[in-house]
Amino acid sequence: MSLPPPIAAAVVALSLPGLAMAAPAPAPGPAPAAAEAFSLAPLPYAYEALEPVIDAQTMRIHHGKHHQAYVNNLNAAVKANPSLQGKSLEALMGEVQNHPPALRNNGGGHYNHTLFWKLMAPQGQGGAPSQALVAQIGKDFGSMEAFKEAFQAAGAQRFGSGWAWLVWTGDKLVVTSTPNQDNPLMGDAPVKGTPVIANDVWEHAYYLKYQNNRAGYLSGWWGVLNWNEANRLFETATRKGK
Ligand SMILES: [Fe+2]
Repeated sequence: MSLPPPIAAAVVALSLPGLAMAAPAPAPGPAPAAAEAFSLAPLPYAYEALEPVIDAQTMRIHHGKHHQAYVNNLNAAVKANPSLQGKSLEALMGEVQNHPPALRNNGGGHYNHTLFWKLMAPQGQGGAPSQALVAQIGKDFGSMEAFKEAFQAAGAQRFGSGWAWLVWTGDKLVVTSTPNQDNPLMGDAPVKGTPVIANDVWEHAYYLKYQNNRAGYLSGWWGVLNWNEANRLFETATRKGK
């Protein structure tokens, strides 16, 4: 039996590779990967911009390897636990004590380093402390010099790895330090508050240039402190309480 011409043409077309009348529906594959919850922002300056206080190689490894690893591990921790999803980093910091240490260590690592990069600027570009910040430091520490001494001592005395902080606690500025990647936002932090200045005293922050001389790193670091950012953090923190 012969087929009517249109049907015959369709049969011929379907039998020839590449001439199918309609593309078959794609086979169902894995769903597209969900966007990662957190990502590593580029540095706000070049790797070599903080020399000679902090060398380019230290910055490259610190930002590109260490900070990237905290971000990757934080994303993995969030992906594995639905109760952590859809929350800001700050909100997650408040509940680290209720979760396995991966959130504390990597969430803290991401939060602290994000703050740290912005709190530095090339020498001569960090501005000066605002009148309001100078006044509050004078009130709480006696003088800028006394504050700097207290901050350096906090960093020097932190055994092992950690951070030195200037924190607004709601009614005053306090110098404190934390171990590892802990920070003053964490739900179980001994001194809770809003960071105004933060310095990373892990060896990975200074070892290539300063080796074991953490005190030298701490005293040199004032040369790259971004006072403009510290002023902004202080202003935002104190405005919140009003
Ligand atoms: Fe670090």
